[in-house]
Amino acid sequence: MGIYSLITGRRGPSGFGSASTAEEVTQGIDATHLTAIITGGTGGIGMETARVMAKRGAHVVIGARNMGAAENAKTEILRQNANARVTLIHLDLSSFKSIKAFVRDFHALHLPLNILINNAGVMFCPYQLSEDGIELQFATNHIGHFLLTNLLLDTMKNTAKTSGVEGRILNLSSIAHIYTYQEGIQFDSINDICSYSDKRAYGQSKLANILHANKLSRQLQEEGVNITVNSVHPGLILTNLFQHTALLMSKFFFLCFCSVYILFIFTMIYSNVHVFTGFLKFFSFYLWKNIPQGAATTCYVALHPSLKEVTGKYFADCNEVTPSKLARDETLAQKLWDFSVKLINSVSKKNYLGFEDTS
Ligand SMILES: NC(=O)c1ccc[n+]([C@@H]2O[C@H](COP(=O)([O-])OP(=O)(O)OC[C@H]3O[C@@H](n4cnc5c(N)ncnc54)[C@H](OP(=O)(O)O)[C@@H]3O)[C@@H](O)[C@H]2O)c1
Repeated sequence: MGIYSLITGRRGPSGFGSASTAEEVTQGIDATHLTAIITGGTGGIGMETARVMAKRGAHVVIGARNMGAAENAKTEILRQNANARVTLIHLDLSSFKSIKAFVRDFHALHLPLNILINNAGVMFCPYQLSEDGIELQFATNHIGHFLLTNLLLDTMKNTAKTSGVEGRILNLSSIAHIYTYQEGIQFDSINDICSYSDKRAYGQSKLANILHANKLSRQLQEEGVNITVNSVHPGLILTNLFQHTALLMSKFFFLCFCSVYILFIFTMIYSNVHVFTGFLKFFSFYLWKNIPQGAATTCYVALHPSLKEVTGKYFADCNEVTPSKLARDETLAQKLWDFSVKLINSVSKKNYLGFEDTS
């Protein structure tokens, strides 16, 4: 898989590719025995993931910080499928207090937990600290999901053990994990405003998503637990995620406009309409996915039977791909794990739900 497959939509070894949709990759899968938590399932990729998982029969629990948007998402999912099982629980991943309350509320439902999809995210925000005093992109995208996953792990282990059904954890990462700070993760200056780059901070948090998934995967394998952990790049999809990118996007579209104009001139000169339409396709369709295509890799990794026992891998366009060298660095993953535990415990001044400092 690569840029050629992305542009052409050519299918990879899995039989799916960049043009596959979430419904297509889950066709015929019965998920009626599964319960899945999806963070940020109120819009974009998360909502489509919730809709398709519910369509396949899963009981979907949406963790949402905006309960109004969550109600709208639930109404829309039920409008399309009256039998859908959708539960909403408030969750703000940038607040330890809220994460703890979410886990308490989820436990109060006495549901099993088969699948955890760490989907919610923010991108390129101006420098901000979370409620707990952690840089917002790192806090929301990595630390919040790290804490949530750890607090839900015992429930997932119990479910996997008693049901005999493989549990699955997914982290929504991004190709942007390759564009991070020089050292990968800025352990010594995670909150440093002077060195803050909105783009590198996003890349850093997405690198952390892969490192977290890989480390947890190894840990669960060592423990012999029937739960897989993988990470995903969903593709490029125009969603609310891009709300802080007005300047970047205007530059991008200006570049596209100029390129299309130049090509148009060439087309006029050489009367070759195929060059022009090919180029238009490249920019308008194949580089950008629509939302059903954007949710395909998540749904594929969460539900597809061919991925049984596949763990510690990174997927794009519904196929396994190799992430960056930093993302494959086991020492860095261990360092991030220890750092995350220390950070959570130092900020909270106590162990949340018995979440121990393992370093
Ligand atoms: N779109 C892309 O091109 C792309 C590419 C690569 C990776 N990704 C990754 O895919 C995931 C989903 O992105 P998307 O494009 O679907 O973005 P989106 O449309 O902006 O959706 C993000 C979701 O996360 C929620 N969220 C944000 N901050 C939260 C917080 N503190 N607590 C709880 N929920 C929070 C949002 O809730 P609100 O409605 O309250 O804001 C929203 O439901 C992200 O992890 C992103 O990094 C996306």
